[in-house]
Amino acid sequence: MVKIEIYSQAQEVAKRVLDLLGSQIKTYPYSQLGLATGFTMIPIYEEMVRMVRQKQLNLRGVRTFNLDEYVGLDESDPGSFRRFMRGHFFEPADMSREQSFFPWPDFSPDFAKYDDVITASGGIDWQLLGIGRNGHIGFNEPGTPWDSKTHEVTLTDDTRRANQQAFGGDWRKVPEKAVTMGIATIFQARTIILVALGQSKSAILAEALHGPVTSRVPASILQEHPGVIVLCDYAAGALLEL
Ligand code: GLP
Repeated sequence: MVKIEIYSQAQEVAKRVLDLLGSQIKTYPYSQLGLATGFTMIPIYEEMVRMVRQKQLNLRGVRTFNLDEYVGLDESDPGSFRRFMRGHFFEPADMSREQSFFPWPDFSPDFAKYDDVITASGGIDWQLLGIGRNGHIGFNEPGTPWDSKTHEVTLTDDTRRANQQAFGGDWRKVPEKAVTMGIATIFQARTIILVALGQSKSAILAEALHGPVTSRVPASILQEHPGVIVLCDYAAGALLEL
């Protein structure tokens, strides 16, 4: 049974995410964290950085595994997720380079090795997750098999449009290929925190959580995971039944 918590504003959602992360780190300082990118995550990383700087959160022992990355972008490219993470989190939170892993280019061309490294180091304890407007998680587009491991994907034009802002507003500049953790990779995480903000996510969030479990809506698989907490604002949660 998925737990759902709805808050009035993004800031409150971010504070709740940090409460949950704080408890995780307190119990297990050497946690392996699965991390996500996207606009939804910006207030969360802001709060994380604030707490690290105020010494309310110590991330020295963690390792982080990002969900996905575009293929072919230099890490200095403003659209790359390595750059996003460096700017919003790693540098301001003073994380060392050795603590953080990305599926591309680190594991190219044998992307399933990303799963092997995650598993060999004990698995992901705490996975932060957003949701795409078509129900994708990571970059697993509708139709991705449930047993998929980390793999290369071709992005739909709709997903490229949804991500165009980081590419000067031109969706054709968004790379066509990306590498993402698979659905099985994500599902193996012990705890999954799914965050959704804004009205543009309300319909897909309700479909994912209350509709049938179907690969047409990749996030719907989360209904079957024993450790999922959904955190959203009023706008994204407007169509949820509690
Ligand atoms: C991208 C990322 C996803 C993220 C989604 C939603 O497609 N690969 O991990 O969940 O965008 O992003 P946003 O938070 O900007 O709506």
